[in-house]
Amino acid sequence: QFRREIPEGLRQLPGPSAFPIIGNLIELGSKPYLSLTEMSKRFGDVFQIQIGMRPVVVLSGYETVKQALTKQGDDFAGRPDLYSFRFINDGKSLAFSTDQAGIWRARRKLAYSALRSFSSLNGKLPEYSCVLEEHICKEAEHLIKELQDVMTVEGKFEPFRYIVVSVANVICGMCFGRRYDHHDQELVGLVNLAEDFVKVTGSGNPADFIPALQHLPNKSMKKFVNINNRFNNFVQKLVTEHYATFDKDNIRDITDSLIDHCEDRKLDENSNIQMSDEKVVGIVNDLFGAGFDTISTGLSWAVMYLVSYPEVEERLFQEIKEQIGLDRTPTLADRNNLPLLESFILELFRHSSYLPFTIPHCSTKDTSLNGYFIPKDTCVFINQWQINHDPKLWKDPSSFLPDRFLNDDGTEVNKLEGEKVLIFGLGRRRCIGEVIARNEVFLFLAIIIQKLHFYKLPGEPVDMTPEYGLTMKHKRCYLGVSMRAKDDE
Ligand code: HEM
Repeated sequence: QFRREIPEGLRQLPGPSAFPIIGNLIELGSKPYLSLTEMSKRFGDVFQIQIGMRPVVVLSGYETVKQALTKQGDDFAGRPDLYSFRFINDGKSLAFSTDQAGIWRARRKLAYSALRSFSSLNGKLPEYSCVLEEHICKEAEHLIKELQDVMTVEGKFEPFRYIVVSVANVICGMCFGRRYDHHDQELVGLVNLAEDFVKVTGSGNPADFIPALQHLPNKSMKKFVNINNRFNNFVQKLVTEHYATFDKDNIRDITDSLIDHCEDRKLDENSNIQMSDEKVVGIVNDLFGAGFDTISTGLSWAVMYLVSYPEVEERLFQEIKEQIGLDRTPTLADRNNLPLLESFILELFRHSSYLPFTIPHCSTKDTSLNGYFIPKDTCVFINQWQINHDPKLWKDPSSFLPDRFLNDDGTEVNKLEGEKVLIFGLGRRRCIGEVIARNEVFLFLAIIIQKLHFYKLPGEPVDMTPEYGLTMKHKRCYLGVSMRAKDDE
């Protein structure tokens, strides 16, 4: 794609000069969220870099990103055709594929309504307000037991390894109506490979932009293809079982509801969107994939912050003790009564910014932003990390200070401040799992903080340096955990 003539009245995008063949790959480095934040100080909220031969527009600044993704939402709602995206869900992913706007919109609507109805259904037991709450409470119970067991046997535990299974079970319950044991080799093996997936899908992966690299032997790309195949086979097996036992009068879970939708569509002569059954039922693949890695990475970071800021952990425990007590398990309805926990979650999202960029976007037509011309089909990176660390928005952005979201007497969360934290994207492509995710992170944390105390172990380093990817992970490490006594002070 070469530079086009600029329409009258618009300016050419600023940006660093690029080397032949590699473009700005070297300046991008191994932490693109930092290098592109630095560049935004020189070139402004809208600038262009080149990765390989391909121009990429980088957006920073809350107002600019809001303008692009909400006010001019349709112009920036596309996804670029990137090499690695073709392997995800056999190229049929809702989140990563280049589906035309009509098809993507129809699939997104289906995914959203399936997710909403299968999280808010009544639970099997009357003590839970909905199935989401039921799944989380039960998984938290299993998690606590697993952690007790591993502490007894090994005296230490690795947070992501256990959290990821609990979170995967919550979304598995909604998607497939089943859960897996913490020692089930198939599930544990699969979900613990998340690092190999997110490393390749992080914005700016060289193999996505430099075709020559796609033909060279590449270890991380090989692992990526392998995990996508394993993942697809895992979901496909469950989908096949669902087709075999499908009963229209007993829709058990999200997979059944998507199969049912395909059946209904065949009877509906007015249906004008042409979509294969595979593309409909394949939605469950996206929901399962997006639903476990994002939340478990967030919870794993939460545990890292708890051990690194023990005084905050203690205040969170005291808040739960005062507001809920230690005799009953927290519920979703407690969310408004735990402002410090809510602020801790917002600060964890802001400070870690563990989704530093959204999934890359793509312009759907010739457009302009802040007076700069952006041609159709330009790849666009949204730097969420920059917004979450912008000194114009945040006082002392590099410090971890949950209290920044509390009002003066600490009794309420300042909602407007909270809305400035960008981690779910904005506008047309905004995350469809946001409500579930916020509820799930809240409830898991409320339960584990009420019941457990986490701590660092001598000789076991805790490294909070994020490893770059679509979701950024902390280095795997070992921690200690103990049960809180009922009369804990
Ligand atoms: C998209 C964040 C949990 C389903 C996204 C995007 C982000 C994001 C940044 C891309 C937005 C963009 O491209 O502009 C998160 C975070 C989560 C989370 C931080 C947890 C803390 C979930 C859950 C689900 C989910 C639980 C479903 C069960 C999706 C889907 C998309 C998406 C399907 C693609 C939307 C589209 O392309 O139209 N999420 N997400 N996410 N998310 Fe989430």
